[in-house]
Amino acid sequence: MYENFFGLDELKLNDEEKYGLSWANLGYWHGNHSYSKAGRNLAIELGKSLELSKKDRLLDVGFGLGEQLLLWHSYFDIDSIVGLNPSEIQNEYAKSRISKEKLAKKISLFTGTSADISRFNSKKFDKIIALDCAYHFETRIKFIRDSIDLLGDGGALGMIDLFPTEKMLKWPQKIMNSLITKFFHIDKKNLMTIRDFELEINEMDVFEAEIIDISNYIFPGFCNYINKEGVKNQSGLKKMKITAKLLSFFHRKDYVRAFKIILKKNI
Ligand SMILES: C[S@@+](CC[C@H](N)C(=O)[O-])C[C@H]1O[C@@H](n2cnc3c(N)ncnc32)[C@H](O)[C@@H]1O
Repeated sequence: MYENFFGLDELKLNDEEKYGLSWANLGYWHGNHSYSKAGRNLAIELGKSLELSKKDRLLDVGFGLGEQLLLWHSYFDIDSIVGLNPSEIQNEYAKSRISKEKLAKKISLFTGTSADISRFNSKKFDKIIALDCAYHFETRIKFIRDSIDLLGDGGALGMIDLFPTEKMLKWPQKIMNSLITKFFHIDKKNLMTIRDFELEINEMDVFEAEIIDISNYIFPGFCNYINKEGVKNQSGLKKMKITAKLLSFFHRKDYVRAFKIILKKNI
């Protein structure tokens, strides 16, 4: 089921080998550069804010085609990485990259959804990451609650995530159901404003939260890239082209925003 939507199409978007050829996120854009650079920038942006370092035991949920798993090791020097992702086809692809790089002892992969993280042992990780994917989880809030037990003392959770604005939540339910839930595979319970999300986090009384709006570094760059000659005429990118069209409209109308979220466990 996950394979239909989360496959290998994104490989066609990647375009600059030195930055990695299997990113599958919206990217973090500083003007007009390659998609690969933007994909890597987004991972580095989150990794730096999460203060990833050599001593960390890391859990990465929703790792896509696995480019980020290699980055956590090469850029942040991390030797203990566990990845969890529901798409078998993506996981096979990531596994083959990892074994080619001879990193199988440092990076272990599991097939499963965010709901499966509760199977890991208590305090097993120092950092947990969800890079451009927690809006798909069932649910984002359950994932965060389950993370609390998995994180060691002083551990932290980092996410790049999308939230609807109040304006969007007023749309008729029919449109929400067909467009957001069905097309984008987003659980309805994740449709909350960033303000309501922050209130829920504060109520947990476990995290110190840092939430930064990064919308302007995400949506215009991604949408312009997909509309470039040479990209827009390429076959096999239907999902990305529709996504770019919708996101461009949503951003212009302020219906959706993108955030970098760091939740540091204060106990
Ligand atoms: C937009 S892609 C991001 C991939 C990757 N993080 C990256 O930055 O290249 C979304 C990812 O979320 C994963 N995903 C979807 N539903 C999920 C769930 N319920 N639990 C965990 N991961 C999920 C998909 O398999 C896919 O790899």
